[in-house]
Amino acid sequence: MGKFLIDGGRPLRGTVQVSGAKNSALPIIVAAALADGESVLENVPKGTDVLTICSILQALGASVWIDESSRLHVDGSGVSSHEAPYDLVRKMRASFYVAGLLLSKLRRANVPLPGGCALGSRPVDFHVKGFQQLGAEISTEHGFMKAVAAKLVGTKLYINRSSVGTTINMMLASCMAEGITLLENAAKEPEVVDVAIFLNAMGAKIRGAGTDVIRIEGVPKLSPTEYMIIADRIEAGTFMIAAALTGGDVTLEGVVGEHLRSPIYKLEEAGLQVEEAPGFVRVVATEKPRAVDIQTAVYPGFPTDLQQPFVALMTISEGTSVVRETIFDRFRYVDELRRMGADIKVERDTAIIRGVERLTGAPVEAMDLRAGAALVLAGLAAGDRTEVSGIEHIDRGYEAFAQKLRALGARIQREGDEAEVDFSSLIRPPLLQR
Ligand code: EPU
Repeated sequence: MGKFLIDGGRPLRGTVQVSGAKNSALPIIVAAALADGESVLENVPKGTDVLTICSILQALGASVWIDESSRLHVDGSGVSSHEAPYDLVRKMRASFYVAGLLLSKLRRANVPLPGGCALGSRPVDFHVKGFQQLGAEISTEHGFMKAVAAKLVGTKLYINRSSVGTTINMMLASCMAEGITLLENAAKEPEVVDVAIFLNAMGAKIRGAGTDVIRIEGVPKLSPTEYMIIADRIEAGTFMIAAALTGGDVTLEGVVGEHLRSPIYKLEEAGLQVEEAPGFVRVVATEKPRAVDIQTAVYPGFPTDLQQPFVALMTISEGTSVVRETIFDRFRYVDELRRMGADIKVERDTAIIRGVERLTGAPVEAMDLRAGAALVLAGLAAGDRTEVSGIEHIDRGYEAFAQKLRALGARIQREGDEAEVDFSSLIRPPLLQR
């Protein structure tokens, strides 16, 4: 298990290229396997979650490989197994997308139910209800959801609570169903829109993605296509906050500013200068940040995935801020920030943060992806050495995190396991390549 060793106290300066969005890439890779034929995906981020989803698809019979230009090729024509392997699925909740794929393609899916995770209990009841309403019979046996459908028929589905995963899984399951499916109270996140655009490029008929109601007209089959995944707004937001925390000046390239409206607004409220141009966002810190209040919300509200980095920023801001988390149970990491000298009180879903003069380095442990990023950012702001363990969580969703930070002047090294996430298992032997 690796660690990051961080000698903080240096402002980050320079330009960073934002990678493709993990939360788009995962369902798009799965969606690509709906077609019999090879789709080619660009801008796929190299994180371990992406590797995991590729391994799951391979286990189901799909062909998945990466070429020398880092484009991912996915061909679903070999998908023949309807049982997703527990050992891989348990690693990440997004694996549940294969349920939508398998139901759509094979009319049968045995998929392990995701267990609890560091974000608390994360049920899949909305997904299950949606599959049932589309015509699947569902039972739960030995920790697996077993779904069978003679056919899937479009219907009106009301999603109880705007849910990214449910909205996407329903699009996967219904795009080749008979008739029309209406998804009401659909999630509006940019990743949902990205998946819909991708499915439409394959021949699906999905309208309204990005609004509350998505209309899906089933088509008999989908065809392979080429597609470029959108930039990762959460990675971009993380680097913006890193610039703020270190008193730096960082320009993000390849980013969609529109996807970051709420975090940009909050950074400006905290006293940061933010400049935008198409494809670029620059964050310049000219003064000590001021405390601001945030409440996480579904898009276009403040994203729950930036709550932790933002709390790290608030720990050294002028004044007291109140941060309310409305999506997940996501405050366990504050104990680690406290070890670095932060003054944070948590009451149920709310954290009250009194800004301190500075953080001090300490050994801390990342318990999940975004909390891990927040601890690294805190370490970059602290005046001395911080050791962040549990960095395998960070590897799940930030491509070359330490490398990108180093290019901005950060002193951060990996210890114990020098390897970046290794995609070599997806490289085909030359003879098999076309
Ligand atoms: N929920 C249910 N039942 C369900 C589904 C969701 O009760 O069947 C609840 C959840 O427990 C949560 C809320 O509904 O309280 C919203 O969850 P949602 O389904 O939107 O989340 P998700 O699809 O599981 C995705 C991202 C998360 C991100 C959330 C919210 C992926 C792979 N994951 O999760 O990303 O925080 O949306 O935007 O897209 C991350 O990248 O670190 C991450 C956790």
